[in-house]
Parts: sequence; structure tokens; C-alpha cells
Amino acid sequence: VRRFLGIALVCLLAACSQKPNASNAPTYTKDIAPILQQQCLVCHREGEAAPFALTNYAEARDHAKAIREATATRYMPPWLPVPGHGDFEGERRLTEGQIATIDAWVAAGMPEGEASDLPTPPAFKKGWQIGEPDLILSLPEPYTLAADAVDEYRNFVIPIPAGPRYIAAMELSPGSAVTALHHAFMLIDTTRESRRRDAEDPAPGFGGMDPGTTAQSPGGHFVSWQPGKIARLAAPGFSWRLAAHTDLVLQVHLKATGKAETIAPRVGVYFTDQPPSAQPTKLVLTTNAIDVPANDAAWAFETRYRLPVSVAVMGVIPHAHYLGKKLHAFAEMPDGKSQWLLRIDDWNFNWQGDYRYAKPVVLPAGTTLVQQFTYDNSSANPRNPNKPPQRVTRGLKTTDEMGELWLQVLPRNATESETLARDFLKDFSTRRLAELEKKSAASAISVPELIELAKLYLPESRGNDAVRCLKEAILRDRFAVEAHYYLGFIKGQINDLPGAKESLEKALSLQPEHPAARNGLGMVLLTEMDFEAAADQFRQACALDPQNPIPHLNLARACIARAKREEARAALKTALELQPGNPEIPHLLEDVER
Ligand code: HEC
Repeated sequence: VRRFLGIALVCLLAACSQKPNASNAPTYTKDIAPILQQQCLVCHREGEAAPFALTNYAEARDHAKAIREATATRYMPPWLPVPGHGDFEGERRLTEGQIATIDAWVAAGMPEGEASDLPTPPAFKKGWQIGEPDLILSLPEPYTLAADAVDEYRNFVIPIPAGPRYIAAMELSPGSAVTALHHAFMLIDTTRESRRRDAEDPAPGFGGMDPGTTAQSPGGHFVSWQPGKIARLAAPGFSWRLAAHTDLVLQVHLKATGKAETIAPRVGVYFTDQPPSAQPTKLVLTTNAIDVPANDAAWAFETRYRLPVSVAVMGVIPHAHYLGKKLHAFAEMPDGKSQWLLRIDDWNFNWQGDYRYAKPVVLPAGTTLVQQFTYDNSSANPRNPNKPPQRVTRGLKTTDEMGELWLQVLPRNATESETLARDFLKDFSTRRLAELEKKSAASAISVPELIELAKLYLPESRGNDAVRCLKEAILRDRFAVEAHYYLGFIKGQINDLPGAKESLEKALSLQPEHPAARNGLGMVLLTEMDFEAAADQFRQACALDPQNPIPHLNLARACIARAKREEARAALKTALELQPGNPEIPHLLEDVER
């Protein structure tokens, strides 16, 4: 036995001491191809997002030095979260051993190896990953990305000719210009606001990182696309409801490729008969108080939120721009322990998207969610857009900064879901109100912020403060539509009908397609018993915001007053579909028949 061991040991030592050479160095067919197949081909093949394919020996050999560099630095495969700080689905990461194998292969001069060693290449599906969609949504016309465009955000608005239906998935097919597409979010607008913004912008869609508050990710879900994203159907119970007459707002982040590109992504929609049994919600931790001095290499902020109910965290989307460096999030449990939710130590704006937990992370009531983001505004940050560095504040341009952490959470039941929504809104509003009052006191508040502050005062019964803010906003910008609208709204509430009318008409003269101002003006006319004129305003409001039951109910009221039974019935039918539980509808239905 001892002799045997001795021989084994000698062999082992001999193997270790040998320099890599043609006989024992890793080869492409035996060692490298399996790594590339598993970890790279999802993007590095014909028709996918990466700039070159790595499907055969010649391609791998030609990019060998870059592959060694990109894998040694862990730039490739792109995966930002630090392992062991949140267990995510579809994690892409090479082992230390795989990185060393690539390094040894390049050092040995990239030997090809025996053809018989080559594993069968994986079969990638062509076209739609989930299969033929039930409905395909395409851009009304393609968009041309200029050859020299920098970081362009575009929001394409596509009417959805379906619904109400339950949706099991939406899959994005990037089209031929896939290398120009950084990432995409699929949002739903139940109003006509996105269409209005699209119409104002001569090119297809409208520009900017802000799709507006009416375009929302649907029903507590994140629907996104990034290079290499594996599309899949929602788990049973996690479908979402698509209302009728809504628009898809497809927000894409585009990067120039050096030549003009035709951007024409399509979205495949997959229906299901299964209504959702689970109602996830989204929470966002963020701050508006971002102000990063030039040359500060570690500017940081922290936001905390204490959960009033127990939730299961399903997924997370971090968001910052070029200065973002460390994006950390963790949960402080009531028992004093903490648990990582996400840890990114080297954020990269070019790799955005959502991360889903392999198993939902259950957090008890009383847990505090903590967001800690750090920004590097020094010239040592290779991604710093300003050379030399400059002070950067919060804003929606890519050269501004942001700090958001979106969490998709699942409360245990509908009651707790409502508790969470109410508590979160209260927490968010209180924080924001304090922030804006501070800015106002320092005379550093902008016109949109004045309007926002006025809106925050309203539920606090601080109407006078709201009016003061709105008047100041109008004084500074007499075209501030929302300021006129809210002023009209408040005047209506205190029964100043002439005042309300004046402000609402002003808002409508600036923006004729403002559904809330139309509805508000209708209310004033209704109170003045000018029923025909009121009905006309409500009809327009219904057309502009078809998913909102309120103008439909108001239209019914105006029609009842004029004994227009048929139109009243139709309006109430629509309202009932939109809001089955509304207690006013049965009363109005009785009034129709009276
Ligand atoms: C999720 C998609 C994706 C995966 C997976 C992926 N890549 Fe990439 N890769 C890209 C994209 C997109 C680019 C071009 C943009 C960039 O350089 O950031 C790129 C660029 C590269 C580059 C050029 C880097 C440079 O310095 O310009 C190399 C080399 C590379 N990848 C190698 C790999 C290898 C090796 C793997 C597997 C171990 C891999 N990639 C996995 C998408 C991917």
C-alpha cells in the first residue's frame, strides 16, 4: 500500500510541476467550448446582443485576448450582484477554475484540440422563446437611431387591440438592430396621456427617461428585457389583468452602433384563462436629495422603510446612472439579524434589469428595508461622463443621477396588501413633503416641485398652503398646466364656481386633452345645471381616460338630468365594468328608470 501511495504522489508532483504545453494545456474543444456554450453563447451568437459570435474555434481564437481580459476582470459574463448576497434566478458567473482555464488556454497559444472532444452545441430556439404569441404588437412605424446618438431613451406607444384579458407573459423580440438595444421596460398606460406625448413628438414615440406617471409597469409586475434575458410564462396565479383599450408603452434605452439603425422591436403577448390569485405590489426606496460634489469618490445616501406587514420579496430592480458605484440593500429583521437583498459593488449603467430571487425572501412585519447607495464622482471612475468631474444632482438625464431600488413584494392577503400600500404612501409622502418644504424655505424649489408640494398638502387638509404654492408656480410659469388644473380643483372643492371655471378653462386652453380638467369643468357645469355642456365635457374626458370610471359616472348624471336614458345606461354599464363594487351605480341605475 505504501509503495502504491508513493507512486501516486510522484505522479501528482510531476503533473503539477509541468509547464503548460501542447500535451496537457486546456484545448478549445475539450475545455473552452463547454464554458463558452454554457456562459456566453446566449448573447455571443448570430442575431443576439453581443457584438461578435463565439460559436466556433476561429471566433474564440480571434477574440482570445479580449476573452481572457473580460473574464479575468469579471466584466463578462455580465452579472452585477456579488454572489452570496441574495440568491438570484439565472445567475451568470464563471468559477475561479473556469477563469484560470481560459487564462491557461490563451497562455498556451489557444490550442484547438481533438475534434472528437467538442461537445454538441446547445440548441437555441430561433424566434419567440415562449412560442408563437397570441398577439404581436409592433411599432406603427420603425424608429431611426442616428449613427452618433448618445444614450437615447425612447418611449414607443402601441395601442393594444385586446382586453380585458389575463396576461401570462410579454416577450420582447429585439429585431435586427439588437446590438443597439441596451434594455427595455414594458409599461401600460390606461389613459391617453402617452399617446398625447407621442403626437407632440414628430418621430415615432417620445423621448426621455421619464415615461410619465400614467405609464405603469402592470399590476405589481416588472416586465423587462435585457440582452440574454430568458422570457418565460408567469407562474400559476401570477398572471395580470389587461384592461380593454390600453396602450403599451415600450421604453427602450438605445446606444449608437456607429451607423444609423432601424429600431423595430416587437412584443409578443401570451394570454391565459387563469386569473391572478396573488397580488404582488411594488415598493420603491429612493431619495430626491442627490447632490454629489465634484471629486467626491464616495458620496452616499441611505433610505429606510419599516414594513408594517409580512411580505415575500420576489424580485428587485436597482437603478442609478454613471456615477453609481455600490448599490446595497438589506433587511434588518425585528430579531436584530440582517439579511442581504442585493449587493452590487461595481454598478454599470449599461447592465440594467430586474433580478428575481430563486426563492422569495420572506420578511416578517417590523422588518426595516435599508437602501445604501454610493456614488463615485472622481476622475478615477472610468464611466464618469464629466471630465473633469462636475457637481451632479438628481435628474432624469443620463448625466444627472438617480438612486432607486424597486422591490416586488407579495403580502400575505388583500387586507395586508392594502395596509402596506397605505402605510408606504404615507411614509413616502411625509418624507417628500418635508424635503420639499425645506427646499421651499431655502428658495430652491422648482415649479414642478411647487405643484408636487401642493398635491401633498391636499390630503393633509392644508388647502391654503396648496393654493399658495400653486399661485407661486403660476407666477413663475404661467403655462404651468397642472398648477392651473389643481387651482381649479381646489376652488371647485370650496364651491368657488367662477374661480374653478376660470382655472380649468385656462388649463384646457394650454392642454385641450387634459382628462381631469375636462372632468372638473364638467363638474362645474353640472353644478351650474348646464347639463348639455357638462355632458359634452364628460364625453371628452371618457374618451381621453377610458379606464377611469369617474367621468363615465358623471356622464350618466348629466344624461339622467336631460332624460337621455340610453346614453346614461351605456355610461353606467361601462362604469360598472370598470368598478363592479361602486355603491353609487345601483342608485344611478334606478334614477335612469325614474
Ligand atoms: C448577457 C449577454 C452576454 C453574455 C452572457 C456574455 N456577453 Fe460578452 N458581451 C455582451 C455585450 C452586449 C457586449 C458588448 C458591450 C460591452 O462591451 O459592454 C459584450 C462584449 C464582450 C467582449 C468585448 C469586451 C470589450 O472589452 O470590448 C468580450 C471579450 C466578451 N463579451 C466575452 C464574453 C465571454 C467570454 C462570455 C462568457 C464567459 C460573455 N462575453 C458572455 C453580452 C454578453
